[in-house]
Amino acid sequence: MLPSLVLPSTLLFSLWAPAVLAGNVTFGEACDPAHQKLQEGTFQFQTDCDSTTFCARNSTCAHRGCRVDTFPFGYDAKAVLPDKCPRGMFCPDEQDNCQGLLSVGSACQFNRDDQCDAPPNFKELADTTGFGLNVNGSVCLNNICMWANETAGNPCVVQNTAYTAYGPDGEFVDIVSRGNCKVGLYCDSQKLQCIQAKNIGETCDADKECLTYNCLANGTCGRTTDTPIKVATWVYVIAAVAILGGMIGTLVALYFVHRKDRQQEREKRAQYWREQNAFRQNIMQMQETARHSLMSYTPGGGSPRSSTYHGVQTEDSQAPMLNAQQAKSSGLRYYVSDDASQVDDRSEEDLMMRRRPEQNRF
Ligand SMILES: *[C@@H]1O[C@H](CO)[C@@H](O)[C@H](O)[C@H]1NC(C)=O
Ligand SMILES: *[C@@H]1O[C@H](CO)[C@@H](O)[C@H](O)[C@H]1NC(C)=O
Repeated sequence: MLPSLVLPSTLLFSLWAPAVLAGNVTFGEACDPAHQKLQEGTFQFQTDCDSTTFCARNSTCAHRGCRVDTFPFGYDAKAVLPDKCPRGMFCPDEQDNCQGLLSVGSACQFNRDDQCDAPPNFKELADTTGFGLNVNGSVCLNNICMWANETAGNPCVVQNTAYTAYGPDGEFVDIVSRGNCKVGLYCDSQKLQCIQAKNIGETCDADKECLTYNCLANGTCGRTTDTPIKVATWVYVIAAVAILGGMIGTLVALYFVHRKDRQQEREKRAQYWREQNAFRQNIMQMQETARHSLMSYTPGGGSPRSSTYHGVQTEDSQAPMLNAQQAKSSGLRYYVSDDASQVDDRSEEDLMMRRRPEQNRF
């Protein structure tokens, strides 16, 4: 059974205020009043005239005299809408003008329960379920106004309508069965008797047999289709734990990843520092050597500049440092070599080469 795919309340709601399948003939143009009818399958009212006009008796489209919907389709945002009908009157499907409510037994338009005058005990009979079983205790069945006042076991009138419905698997027929039984009863289509409607879990053949108006595919009455889904507390707990766990896990993972990076970076810096320190030591050593050689120089023994010995000494003291530099480069220099402010190895060496003779002068 497919009817459970359709929201019955939605379907019935659309029947109270029938959407008009408007044509495209505009105000003042010719139309055929005979074309006004209910469409097959959807039971929408259709007309030649557009959504702001109706087909008048003189076969031209005239402005509507009333409206059914609070927010009717087809009007401009600033358009002046025709009024809704006051209490005690109704606006027919044509929406030409308001008419007085119809008494019991008179002809009404398809499913327009609101066109029928209410019974004296309308407060007792009125449908408050929201399933659209009647309007103020009145019901329009087979185009006749009735009161939905029949009690259990009494004979009743039934109206079965086959709508064309559209689901994920394509078209299907949705049969809606309405009767004039009191709310809480349904009119059995075979026996034509009012029968007590069923509670959740009882067996059913159609939506109308259930108090919840929802006969499930397994043939039992289910909850109303608009019942909110209630989630158990443990689901909330699991969701909260999962969210918090995900956040904390991400933080911990990022901490470890960054710690690795940090250590690498620290190692580079330490190595750079060691290099710089070695470099400094070398320079100091060089100065020391130069000073010593100057001190040990005895006047008259020759010019310090001509001393090859000192030059060789300096050259020797220089060599290990350069070698050391090439052997274990920190990588930081290359790492930051993009930086224009950083002096690269080559220019540093050059600088030293240029500086060396000056130092030798002392
Ligand atoms: C046709 O009837 C409508 C409403 O009854 C009226 O407003 C309109 O003027 C009429 N048109 C003609 C051409 O008579
Ligand atoms: C029930 O409604 C019908 C009209 O549908 C009416 O003729 C009849 O008197 C009502 N019965 C009672 C008991 O009110």
